[in-house]
Amino acid sequence: MRLWAPRELLVLLVLPSLGFLFFQQLYSPSQCPGVAEKSSPTHVLILSSWRSGSSFVGQLFSQHPDVFYLMEPAKHVWATLSSGSAGQLQMAVRDLIRSVFLCDMTVFDAYMAQGPRKQSSLFMWDTSRALCSPPVCHLFHREAIVPPADCRILCGKQPFTMVEEACKSYSHVVLKEVRFFNLMTLQPLLTDPSLNLHIIHLVRDPRAVFRSRQNTEQDLMQDSHIVMGNQRNKIKKEDQSYHLMQAICQSQQEIYKAAQLLPDSQRERYLLIRYEDLVQDPLTQTSKLYEFAGLPFPPHLQIWVHNITQGKGMGRSAFDTDSRNAQSVSQAWRWSLPHNQVVQLQKVCKDTMNLMGYLPVLSEKDQRNSSVNLLSTPEIP
Ligand SMILES: *[C@@H]1O[C@H](CO)[C@@H](O)[C@H](O)[C@H]1NC(C)=O
Ligand SMILES: *[C@@H]1O[C@H](CO)[C@@H](O)[C@H](O)[C@H]1NC(C)=O
Repeated sequence: MRLWAPRELLVLLVLPSLGFLFFQQLYSPSQCPGVAEKSSPTHVLILSSWRSGSSFVGQLFSQHPDVFYLMEPAKHVWATLSSGSAGQLQMAVRDLIRSVFLCDMTVFDAYMAQGPRKQSSLFMWDTSRALCSPPVCHLFHREAIVPPADCRILCGKQPFTMVEEACKSYSHVVLKEVRFFNLMTLQPLLTDPSLNLHIIHLVRDPRAVFRSRQNTEQDLMQDSHIVMGNQRNKIKKEDQSYHLMQAICQSQQEIYKAAQLLPDSQRERYLLIRYEDLVQDPLTQTSKLYEFAGLPFPPHLQIWVHNITQGKGMGRSAFDTDSRNAQSVSQAWRWSLPHNQVVQLQKVCKDTMNLMGYLPVLSEKDQRNSSVNLLSTPEIP
């Protein structure tokens, strides 16, 4: 028996999708080059929580040549008004998001030091391919896959005004944000006539989130304080991480339930996706996400998505999205979390886990046995 060479496998994997894309292009006039540019822009909010794979989903959009992407622009609101609670800051966060969708970057004046600034003042600016390619930076093509580390070295000196210019040159503006805790705050944006908002709600198994948060506790400290608000001093130190997870689980559940109650015209602008489903079948799920956003799936991106989800490495820092074996990362909590912590977490996130189709482990034996499946079909219509 002979084995498939990686290149042959790749061809096998990519060819059927190419055929599909060919027909899609043939029958969909909106995807002719130039037309998308002139019609009004599409706005996509990747709505998620910390350590839920949202940087990865963000990169799926950021590397798309039709997309202007920013990662967590509301980080600036929270960093500047850090004595507020999440609830107190939510309207400021919403207004900032709205302005950024409309490419009005003057909104950052309230949250950045005065005087001339560079685009590198933006939080995680180098994760945005759009800020690493024309019209901002001419060292990369718009169609290139740009690694943040290369962009950081070569494109950091560009003036901040270029951010707005870049934004206006794209058909899609995509923002990833983790600082919304309900859908009510966002609903006015869904009916705002100047926006064409689509919401991708990304959730992840709370046990995997919990484990990932433990590894990045220092990076998340300031945000965690804002989530706990003035309750923080009343909560025992050892309970704080569970309290945080409870707040996160509850908000994920509330957002999902509120979305089901939206009128049809708004409901169809909401898409729930589980991180686990994405890593199990990255090409299919990515094509679903792009379709929802009205984006084509060019061949170079199909190869790239395949590459980054099959690579090795676990990703060390809080905001790292390098190539890794995504599926084994999503199961890593089963070996690294003590069972008693899993039990306690399953208690505080019980309803959310039920709703999203994350099955509880009933014994330490089941937790460590990778043949025991912990995903069921979520109650997603
Ligand atoms: C995918 O991986 C192969 C093999 O490492 C590499 O040659 C190629 O440039 C990568 N392509 C993309 C688009 O990432
Ligand atoms: C692991 O789980 C599978 C599926 O439930 C079961 O058939 C198997 O016996 C388990 N293995 C161990 C060592 O318990």
